[in-house]
Formats: sequence, C-alpha cells, structure tokens
Amino acid sequence: MAISRRRFIRQTLTFGPVAMAFWLDRDLAAWASQCGMPASGADCTLPSPPPAKQFVPNEPKVMTRYSALEMSQPAMATQLKQFREAICKVRDLPKDDVISWTKQVAQHCIHCASSNPTNIHYDWQFLPWHRGLLYFLERILRKLGGHDDLRLIYWDWENTASRTLPTIYAPADQPLYWANRHLTGPRWPLPNDKVDVQPLLGVPTFKTFGGTAVQSTPTPAVYSGPHANVHNAFSPGDMANLQFSPRDPVFYAHHGNIDRLWTSWVAADASHKNPDFGTAKVYFYDENRVWRYVLMNDLRDETKLGYKYSSLMKPKSSLKFMQETPLARKVNHLTLAASTMARLKAPSPDFLLIENIHDLEKLPASAVDFGIFQGTPPAGTQSATAKGFLGTVSRVLSSGHAHNERLSAAINVSDRIGRLAEEKKGTLDLTVAPLDATGKTTAAAIPLVADNISVVS
Ligand code: C2O
Repeated sequence: MAISRRRFIRQTLTFGPVAMAFWLDRDLAAWASQCGMPASGADCTLPSPPPAKQFVPNEPKVMTRYSALEMSQPAMATQLKQFREAICKVRDLPKDDVISWTKQVAQHCIHCASSNPTNIHYDWQFLPWHRGLLYFLERILRKLGGHDDLRLIYWDWENTASRTLPTIYAPADQPLYWANRHLTGPRWPLPNDKVDVQPLLGVPTFKTFGGTAVQSTPTPAVYSGPHANVHNAFSPGDMANLQFSPRDPVFYAHHGNIDRLWTSWVAADASHKNPDFGTAKVYFYDENRVWRYVLMNDLRDETKLGYKYSSLMKPKSSLKFMQETPLARKVNHLTLAASTMARLKAPSPDFLLIENIHDLEKLPASAVDFGIFQGTPPAGTQSATAKGFLGTVSRVLSSGHAHNERLSAAINVSDRIGRLAEEKKGTLDLTVAPLDATGKTTAAAIPLVADNISVVS
C-alpha cells in the first residue's frame, strides 16, 4: 500500500494543484478500511508481565513536537501523513498484541480505579506516568511507521485559535477520527476560564502543582483544571470517561499539552523545580514488546526523551515578583491580613490555591464541575453572573466506579477577590457547589473545607 501510494503521489504531483486536492480526498478515503478499532469492553487487562527491565532514556536526537494547528499547515502535509499512517498501524495490530491500541488503553485503564493504590492521577506519578505513556507510544509509532524522526502532536487548547477539536482530528475515515466524541453544547468552544493555564504556571511548588509520593497529599492541581475540563468537554464521549479516554486518538494530543504545561511550568520561573522522585518507577511495554520500568527521575528532562515543544506557555507577568501567602482560617471563614488585602487590591494577577477540598462526596456523584464561591449561593444560581463566584475545580469520572478523591484548585481570581474581600472587610466565607454543564449550581453550596488555602499575588 505504501509503495503504490508513494508512486501515486509522485504521479499526482506532476499534475499540479487540482489533481493534488483530488488526491488528498482520495487519501483520506483510503483509510477507512485500513485502521482497526480497539476491542470494546476488553481494554482493561494486560497479561501478567515478566520482571521488568530498566529503560534509561538517552535519545541521540531532539526533534520538535508540533501543535495540531501547526500540523494542519500545508507545509506539514508529509509529516502529518506519516503520523496518520503510523497511528493506523498501531490501530491495526491484533488486540492481544501488548503494544496494540487496545493495550495502550489497557495500560491506562489498569491504573484508573480510584480505589486503586497505584492510581496514576492523584499523586506525583500523574505527570511522569502520562509522559512515559506518550513516549513509549511515540517509540512504537517511530518503529512501526518507519520514521525515526516522527514525534507526537499536541493540542494547544490554551491558544484562542484552538478551542474546538483540532481540524486534523476531525474528518471521518482517517486514523485520527473517533466516532464516540461529543462536540456540541455549552462546553464548546472551550471557554477561556476552562483552559486558563496562568494560575497553574504561577503555582510555586511542585507539591501543589504535581502532587507528592502519597495519593492526594495533595491531589495535583494540574489534574483538576484544564486537564479535566478538556476531557469533560467531550461528555458523553470516550474522552470524558477517564478509564477509556485513551481510545480516542485526541487523548494523546490533549496529554501532549498537559506534558507541555509541565515543561512550561519548569521554565516559567527559576524557582520551579522538579522533585527528586527517588526510586519511584513507572512501567510500560516498549516498541519491542519488552516490559520496562523507567525511573521517574529519568523522565524529568524531555530532551533525554528526544523531543522538545515548538513553543511553551508563558506566564503573563513575571512570577519573580509574586509571592504565596497562606490564608488564616477557621473552617471556611478566612481572615486576610492588611498586607494581603493590599496585594489583592493591586492591579497584578491573583491566584487562589486550594489543596484538597473535602466533603465532595456529600455532593451529587455525577457532578464533574464545582464552583467556588464567597457566600452561599442557592441551588439554580448561574455561576458566571453570581457576585461571589471565584472559579471552578473539576474531576473526570469513570463509568463503573466512584471518584471520591479530594480535588485541588489553582484559579485565577485577579479581578474578583480584592473587591469581594474589601466589601466583606477583609474576610471571606468560602463555599463549594456542584455545577451543571451551563455553569448553574445544581445543589446548595457547602462550606469549603480544605487542607491548605493560599493566594499567589
Ligand atoms: Cu490518565 Cu487525562 O488521564
């Protein structure tokens, strides 16, 4: 197939742009019968592996991962075609093959139940584990596609031009298409505040940003912002179901951007440091179907993994001049010091950091978004226009098991918190309420109790 198509391109190129456009359509049509679907229902099992061999990443060549928007440009057509062909090859592997698309989903699924002590979403594995999944998929694509320079694509949803499903993923009958996607309704296009990376870039410590060795101490803030929001935008499609979200090829572009957010966080300020992960390891099948472990410490520098991003996300104002101030509180009643009030009223950005919100299990189990308020809004309040609304925090549900984890929030409260605190003479009474897809509260707010609350301003 590859040879005849190459010959076809060569022939077609000589006929100029009209024939070329015809060929592109034919090319998309050609995929339909070529790409397999992962087995439905059977994608949460792996064979019991032999003892893992260590993998020490040390790639000789650093290539660029481009955004989905960049990859849609005509100059990238060849690279995009190679990427699609390679994805198709993985999707075509028999489902029992340990590197098949089905087993990519399974590698994620087995770590997903919230009762699972090795769940990779609520501790410091979250960023390195997903980086490892993407890296080994990239190596599989490089090998099966026969292009060692091939790199994954990231979906730059923080960019106002990229707030809908990337165009290269959309057409049916090509390897990046996935039928079970929901792309209309109030969550589309992705609203600014649901993909705002500024408060996350401003988080001063890895502990708050990316968690610690112990589950939910705290839950990483990077899990419950844009990460959860982009998953949930696809509800009720596969992307909004945490355990099966890697069925959809756009999952890997979404997590490419979460990975880029990690790199961007490290680059955002000299004080931002990855932890020493010690002997912590993550496990994957490599492109030769060998069960591997990688030290999380070896996943901290992505250039060792042979890639860099075509651009990074940047803080809007220098983090050097911002500081974190813990807020004194009694349950959910916060009292702000005069110096904190002065900082909040100044025109610079203000971010509210909340580690581990308690009691979410008292709110409806189906809720994915929670509004954080000053004051107690009644059920049915539209958060966007409510005076006391400060921001949202979100989770991703899995069908088939409960998600009772505590959530951490990093929210942008720049224009709101100073005004609210002034009105309340230096105090705030914080609450949390479940929101529907339109942003309306669906139940009465409850007091916001958390492990730590601070402002970065
Ligand atoms: Cu492992 Cu975005 O999920």
